[in-house]
Amino acid sequence: MVKISASILSADFACLAEDCRRALDAGADWLHIDVMDGHFVPNISYGAPVLSCLHKALPQAYYDVHLMISDPAGYAADFARAGADSITFHLEAVPGKVEQTIQAIRDTGCKAGISIRPGTPVEEVFPYLALVDMVLVMSVEPGFGGQAFLPASPERLAALKAECLRRGVSPVLQVDGGVNGVTAPLCVQAGADNLVAGSSLFRAADLSAAVRAMRG
Ligand code: DX5
Ligand code: ZN
Repeated sequence: MVKISASILSADFACLAEDCRRALDAGADWLHIDVMDGHFVPNISYGAPVLSCLHKALPQAYYDVHLMISDPAGYAADFARAGADSITFHLEAVPGKVEQTIQAIRDTGCKAGISIRPGTPVEEVFPYLALVDMVLVMSVEPGFGGQAFLPASPERLAALKAECLRRGVSPVLQVDGGVNGVTAPLCVQAGADNLVAGSSLFRAADLSAAVRAMRG
């Protein structure tokens, strides 16, 4: 069954642990931690201390950290110490240093993920498919929650899925941005195994119903 990773960017930061507990109780599988540095993306979110507090409050949760920052290798250890289970970085942030960045994440003991922005050809990630645990296809321009799902995303997921099959590898295929009850089935049909959702969960009147709608 497809996994749901709840993006806490749309949670109420004044009662973060409570909102995360609600998402997990509603059936979300992972917590998605969006880290933005105001440099790789034009927004600032939060850093490792927030994850550390959350991890103390909810030690059993799976923390899926999405680094939208210019120096992911330099901060990977901080996030691992704070409680990350997996750390995903952006291909575009580390030209010429992709393998090194994957290794830096692996050295922390966390699972390693690689992400691409909507404008990056999917072929650019092909050489790394055997080296990572997860590939994250952004279905909005990274930086903000609440944007509309980009319609080219399912085709991009399908192309990645086909290439994974061709190579005999099976990293988790994750999609992030504008995922809701309408767009989720398109992603699952295209081969996604993990759906990130922020606003469609935390702004829903009934969080459990929103999770169920995404599972189809
Ligand atoms: C965007 C983030 C997403 C975002 C998703 O840069 O990576 O995780 O929070 O939010 P929604 O689901 O509202 O598009
Ligand atoms: Zn994200």
